[in-house]
Amino acid sequence: MLRARRLSQPADLSRLSRRAVLRGGAAALSAGLAGIALPRPVRAEGGVLTLTAEPFQHGLYPESGALSDLWGFNGQVPGPEIRVGRGERVRVRLINRLEEPTSIHWHGVRIANGMDGVAGLTQEPVPPGGTFDYDFEVPDAGTYWYHAHAESWNQVGRGLYGPLIIEGDTPEFDRDHDLVLIADDWRLDQDGRFDAESLGSLRDWSHAGRLGNWLTVNGISNPEFDLVAGEAYRLRLTNASNARILEIDPRRIGGTLVALDGQPLAHSEDFDADVLSLGPGQRIDVVVVPKPGRDLSLTEISTGRPFEFARFKVTGSGPADRPAIPVLRPNALTAPNLAEARTVVLDMTGGAMGGMGEIRYRGELLDRDAVMRTGQVWAFNGVANRSETPLFSAPRGETIILEIRNQTAWPHAMHTHGHHFQVLTSDDSLGPWRDTVLIGPRDTIRITLAADNPGKWLFHCHMLEHAAAGMNTWFEVT
Ligand code: C2O
Ligand code: CU
Repeated sequence: MLRARRLSQPADLSRLSRRAVLRGGAAALSAGLAGIALPRPVRAEGGVLTLTAEPFQHGLYPESGALSDLWGFNGQVPGPEIRVGRGERVRVRLINRLEEPTSIHWHGVRIANGMDGVAGLTQEPVPPGGTFDYDFEVPDAGTYWYHAHAESWNQVGRGLYGPLIIEGDTPEFDRDHDLVLIADDWRLDQDGRFDAESLGSLRDWSHAGRLGNWLTVNGISNPEFDLVAGEAYRLRLTNASNARILEIDPRRIGGTLVALDGQPLAHSEDFDADVLSLGPGQRIDVVVVPKPGRDLSLTEISTGRPFEFARFKVTGSGPADRPAIPVLRPNALTAPNLAEARTVVLDMTGGAMGGMGEIRYRGELLDRDAVMRTGQVWAFNGVANRSETPLFSAPRGETIILEIRNQTAWPHAMHTHGHHFQVLTSDDSLGPWRDTVLIGPRDTIRITLAADNPGKWLFHCHMLEHAAAGMNTWFEVT
């Protein structure tokens, strides 16, 4: 199992986390949040939902009383929950009230290329004051999310994201038993405010990305949810962090893993020992059946110091029998044809503590000074950021095996647009469907996908600083 790197937290920030762990007055804080109402879902079907990207203020660290200057959709973080049925149409009007261009990407949705929201590849960035109309169908049920896709390291980092939930034909859980939980990792300053000053630090870009010192769920510090013992709940957990690989302590939550990155697992797994590692952009759906008198929590353990960031209060005595866990119906994805697959190699190089290797950027071979000036410290096959020619161009229907060789000293979270893929094990068996996969330092993995969605698709590291600093490429399906 992949281990995240230890936190490289600026030491003077540890005060915040310490206070959190020593929550003496925690009762007062959580009382106000107990049984918080989940954001009301928005049905886009039949109507157009407006998402306005705009600055707003929000308290990320309530104990300090300080408000943070953030950016969000409709002045909130996360943005409104969009909830539709499989196969339905989503219509969203983006209004840009930022002072820079933006766009919206629908992460994990196998979407029509022109609606994918990648500024500079699938659409022109939406200028300040401008609008863009998204209109697409959603082929797969599951847990997805949307986020800005222009200068994502800055825009997603400040809060421009929200949940996109696609229900199966028969919703398996009612709304009280279907909890949407978007986790985010924030870097707060001494006063408990969002630290905007350190955004874009070359140190972050060349190391693990921007790691924070505070976690929220649905934009809330230490939320508390009320669960009833003996009932089955579906937790839809998304990692919206710029760079943090969330490592969740399985003993504090328990349950059955039923979906990864939106796609139902063929065999759901009970987990009790393995750490649940969730890279940036990834989702897991977990079904929990709480036992009487045993509260559950989301507790992050990558720093070696357990950090509880959401609590589930369990009431009731519960029935003696565990309820049956509903089985999620799989989505109709195109199976790869391994017998006729073509292998494409991706070498990942650069970053701190690795051989830099040669880095080409916009046709120029970068020397040390140019690396510092451009911030391009990572490369895919020797090229930083989108090359002129695609990584591969595949006729529709071709199966591609991507051999990803991570020659860096860091883990990465590789994400495909427009397609889900499967990891190939050494004996060529296929892992579960995913749209984002963690690859450990100096590790090599192979993933496979059937190129079935025409267009130009991004393939990048979802550690957003890594993507900005070079870890971006693209492929084409014709
Ligand atoms: Cu979640 Cu290229 O994005
Ligand atoms: Cu990376």
